Amino acid sequence: MMIPFSPPRIDKRVVDEVTAALLSGWITTGPRTKQFEKDITSYCGNKTTVAVNSWTMGMQVLLHWWGIGEGDEVILPAYTYCASANVIVHSGAKPVMVDINPDDFNISIEAVKKAITPKTKAIIAVDIAGYPCDYGSLLELVENSEVNSLFKPSNELQTKLGRIVLISDAAHSFGATQKGIRAGAMADISSFSFHAVKNLTTAEGGALCFNLPDIFNHDEIYKEFCTLILHGQNKDALAKTQKGNWRYDVEEPGFKCNMTDIQAAIGLIELERYQENLDRRKVIFEKYDTAFSNQKWAITPLHTSEDSISSYHLYQLRIANITESQRDQIIQAIFDKDVSVNVHFLPLPTLTAYKKRGYKMEDYPETWNKYHNEISLPVYFDLTDEQVQLVVKAVVDSVKSVIE
Ligand SMILES: Cc1ncc(COP(=O)(O)O)c(C=O)c1O
Repeated sequence: MMIPFSPPRIDKRVVDEVTAALLSGWITTGPRTKQFEKDITSYCGNKTTVAVNSWTMGMQVLLHWWGIGEGDEVILPAYTYCASANVIVHSGAKPVMVDINPDDFNISIEAVKKAITPKTKAIIAVDIAGYPCDYGSLLELVENSEVNSLFKPSNELQTKLGRIVLISDAAHSFGATQKGIRAGAMADISSFSFHAVKNLTTAEGGALCFNLPDIFNHDEIYKEFCTLILHGQNKDALAKTQKGNWRYDVEEPGFKCNMTDIQAAIGLIELERYQENLDRRKVIFEKYDTAFSNQKWAITPLHTSEDSISSYHLYQLRIANITESQRDQIIQAIFDKDVSVNVHFLPLPTLTAYKKRGYKMEDYPETWNKYHNEISLPVYFDLTDEQVQLVVKAVVDSVKSVIE
């Protein structure tokens, strides 16, 4: 039987909570979604949270709200999933791609520094595989007086912040920490993904976690977002069902990307038992580390440092001294042994949509260096120790069959 890559943990507890939501008489945004938002806020330690139907739509609305559009630039790493850049394209702004660090898969602060221009409105830092970017240095950079002197705000919100906004693409990093601070509270605003393959899932879903300086009123931001993600309606469907409360207004056209209570029902259970999920993932990472430590060709991923601890989302193994095509052959051989693996990620400049827009792979050598020999291994709560050993054997045998 095939060992899957990242199946969701669906058991009786999840089924019971989803069933309860289905039978409750209210299945779209309602009490479970509100509870889920509160639980995320208290888990992450940020100021307010808005649940949405995906990372992508949350980020799209966020860029719109912040007033990012034509003529603006948003800096992001070339090494990320296409969603991180697609939302910038849809906002009308220009994605400014930069390279990553030699030691991890995250955005290079030096490269960000060089890419800042008077048009830069935001930085989207991506916590690849769940390992947090260096937010301390990124915040220092956007607050630096020289960098600040370039900043040209174009609306009230941007003027209020008075600098480039630091956004975290935390799609992978729910539960990660840096200097004791959890993902969701490391940047001005963070966006989580609760897609089916993520550490914490709601089938599809996401959350925007706001942690702007205190001059911003986070209760007001929460209210504004509840409206923005529901067509701009100043009352949600549940509020409208209350006696004498049917009339509503739309002051500005909004989007439609609210989370449903059916999704939140899964999320509530996932969050309640999230620590055991993280603990199991950590054990699996350590088992892989140990198993590959005596293989000369294995480059194991950084997941813990003095300041940061990963959420153990993806185990990004790399194979030294191979070509991209040898990596692909190894992947085929692993699949032939009934183990499902993956590649994270095809760098943005390799994708037709971004090639067409003039981005060139050769401009991001470290991104290529990390990508061309990378293989992501299965990591999930229900993966047994025995299966971990089967994965290791499949990888070792496959690498040997290609490079020896
Ligand atoms: C780094 C990164 N950002 C954003 C997304 C988009 O998330 P969603 O599918 O919830 O829109 C993903 C999804 O895989 C991702 O890996």
